[in-house]
Amino acid sequence: MTHSFQELNGSPPVDARWFFDTLTARRSIRDFESVPIATEVIERLLTAACSAPSAHNRQPWRFCVILDESYKDRLARSMGEVLRIDRLSDGIDPDEAQAEVHRSYDRLTGAPVVIVICLTMEDMDRYLDEPRAHAEYLMAVQSVAMAGENLLLMAHTEGLGACWMCAPLFTQDIVTEILDLPSSWEPQGLIILGHPAQEGRDRSRMPLDRVVLWR
Ligand SMILES: Cc1cc2nc3c(=O)[nH]c(=O)nc-3n(C[C@H](O)[C@H](O)[C@H](O)COP(=O)(O)O)c2cc1C
Repeated sequence: MTHSFQELNGSPPVDARWFFDTLTARRSIRDFESVPIATEVIERLLTAACSAPSAHNRQPWRFCVILDESYKDRLARSMGEVLRIDRLSDGIDPDEAQAEVHRSYDRLTGAPVVIVICLTMEDMDRYLDEPRAHAEYLMAVQSVAMAGENLLLMAHTEGLGACWMCAPLFTQDIVTEILDLPSSWEPQGLIILGHPAQEGRDRSRMPLDRVVLWR
C-alpha cells in the first residue's frame, strides 16, 4: 500500500486536478487595476516564494518590495534609459525604441506592487576552481528562479496577475543604487503584481514530444 505525501505529513489532501488546472491557466499579466494589495497578501506570496527548494537549502533569494510610487518612477526611468540605448545600438527605429521605453515605464509604474528579486552568494559554498564556482552560482540562480515561480503561481492562485520582467538583469548597478540594496544582493529580475486589468495573452507551449526525450 502506498501513501501520498499529504497522508504521511498529516496535511489536508491536495486536489491534483485543481492544481494542474491552476498552474496551466496562469498567464503573465502586464496591466493592472489601481487597487492596492494588502500587506498580508504580499507576505503570503513571499512566504510561498521562500518555500521553494534551494541548493543545500541555502535560500539565496532576497526580495525588495516596492510600493512607493517615487521608487517605481525612478527605477522605470533609469532602466528605460538603458533600454533605449541598448535598442538603438541594436539598430532599431528610434520611434520603436521610444515606444518600448514607454511601454516598460507604464508597466512598472502601473503596477501596485513591484518586487525586485535578487540573488546572494553569501551563504553558498565557495570553491577555488572556476567550474565548481560557476556551477554553484548557477545553483543559486536556479534556486532564485524557483522562488520566483512559486511567487507567480501563488499570485495567480490569489486571483492576482503578475509578470516576471528581466530589466534588472541588464541594469544591476542602477537598481542597487536606486533601492540602496545591500552590496551582496544581485538583482535578477522583478515581478509586477496587482489585480489584473486584462486576461493575459494565450501563449501556447511546445508539445511534449519536442521537449522530452524518453530513454
Ligand atoms: C526569466 C523571464 C524573463 C521575462 N522577462 C520578461 C520581460 O522583460 N518582459 C515581459 O513582458 N515579459 C517577460 N517575461 C514573461 C514571458 O514573456 C512569459 O512568461 C512568456 O511569454 C509565456 O507567457 P505566460 O507567462 O503568459 O505563459 C519573462 C519571463 C521569464 C521567465
